[in-house]
Parts: sequence; C-alpha cells; structure tokens
Amino acid sequence: MTKKPFTRVSMHTALSVSVLLASGAFAATANAEKFGFGTTPTAEEIAAINIDVMPDGRGYPSGSGTVAQGKEIYTQQCASCHGDDMQSVKGTGADALIGGRGSIGTEKTKKTVESYWPYASTLFDYIKRAMPFTAPGSLTNDEIYAVSAYILHKGNIIDADATMNAETMSKVEMPNKDGFIPDPRPDVFNYR
Ligand code: HEC
Repeated sequence: MTKKPFTRVSMHTALSVSVLLASGAFAATANAEKFGFGTTPTAEEIAAINIDVMPDGRGYPSGSGTVAQGKEIYTQQCASCHGDDMQSVKGTGADALIGGRGSIGTEKTKKTVESYWPYASTLFDYIKRAMPFTAPGSLTNDEIYAVSAYILHKGNIIDADATMNAETMSKVEMPNKDGFIPDPRPDVFNYR
C-alpha cells in the first residue's frame, strides 16, 4: 500500500470514531429500539455509579470528616465485623484493617490497609462502594472521609487531629506506596 491511501483510510477511521462518539447517546436509544432492551442512562444514573477515586485525587467528592467523628461511625457501623481493634472478628470474613507494617514479602505477610495498600484513595473508594458490608452505599461522603480518617489514624498514618477531605486525603502517603512495580504499559494505570 502506498502512503497516500493509508493516510486517507486513517482519516476516514478517525472521522467515523468521532462521529460515533458524538452520537453515543443516540446510538444507545437506537439500540434500545432495535433490540428491545436497554435505555439511555440519565445523568443521575451515570453520576450514581461514577464514583471511582484515583490516587492523584481525581474523583474525590466534596465533604470532610475528622478522626474523632470517624471513631463514632466505626464503632457503630464497622466494629461488629472488623473489631474494635481493627483485627477483624472471627467468623465474619472481614479483613484486619491495620497492622502488619513491614511484613509484606516476609514469611509472616499480613496484608492490611496499613501494610499493603499503596494509595489512600482506594480506602475511600472501597468504603464508598462496598461498606458497611450489609448496607453498601449508605454512608455520606462526610462519613466516609471520617471513617477513613479514623482507620488511617489507627494505622499510624495520620495524626489524631487530622481532617480528611479531597485535598488532604490525596496527599496521604501510604507506608507501602513504593511496594509495587509500576505497570510498564503506556497510559495504563499511569497515575503518577
Ligand atoms: C457485616 C460485616 C461487616 C461490616 C459491618 C463492615 N465490614 Fe468491611 N468488610 C467485611 C467483609 C466480609 C470484607 C471482605 C470483603 C471481600 O473480601 O470481598 C470487608 C472488607 C473491608 C475492607 C477491605 C479490607 C481489605 O484489606 O481488603 C475495608 C477497608 C472495610 N471492609 C471497611 C469497612 C468500614 C469502614 C466499615 C464500616 C463503615 C465496614 N467495613 C463494615 C465485613 C464488614
């Protein structure tokens, strides 16, 4: 193939892709009519599931919470499974949340939020989408910031008087932040 037609083909492809993207909403409606199932999601429906928080701070909602507020929430809504000492209650299947720092890669590896998780954003994200186990999605953003603050404090990662919000939480340095090998694929999970 000569260079010229190749260029034309790519231009054409690029154009179709952008047209496709622009007509995404229309395509969804058309498909619903054609296949008889599915609807175009509303902005609220997309917002309800678009809750991921990234290590660089993208996606944190507004709101804030303190260690002290988090202690109350933890005691009422988390301790029954994760334990007052955050070492998990036998039989619940809940993980220990703190401890094990420095144990990763040793014979006594103990994976917890404190010892293993490289980013604090995962804590916010995980609690928001999955906890409390029996009522995921029931906590407000303020409550999630607060309970995250309490867990990070008990893990000796932040001070007792700390307040977590979008800004402070994206600056938290986790003990195991350098414990992972960066993914070499370009533009994939390229957070830092
Ligand atoms: C009814 C029991 C129960 C309650 C209450 C509960 N959890 Fe959990 N939690 C679990 C279970 C079970 C898992 C493991 C889930 C899995 O591996 O799929 C878990 C996992 C977690 C993890 C991930 C830990 C890891 O190392 O993977 C975090 C963080 C967490 N819970 C936080 C909370 C917080 C914060 C609350 C209170 C707001 C809470 N949980 C309330 C049962 C519970």
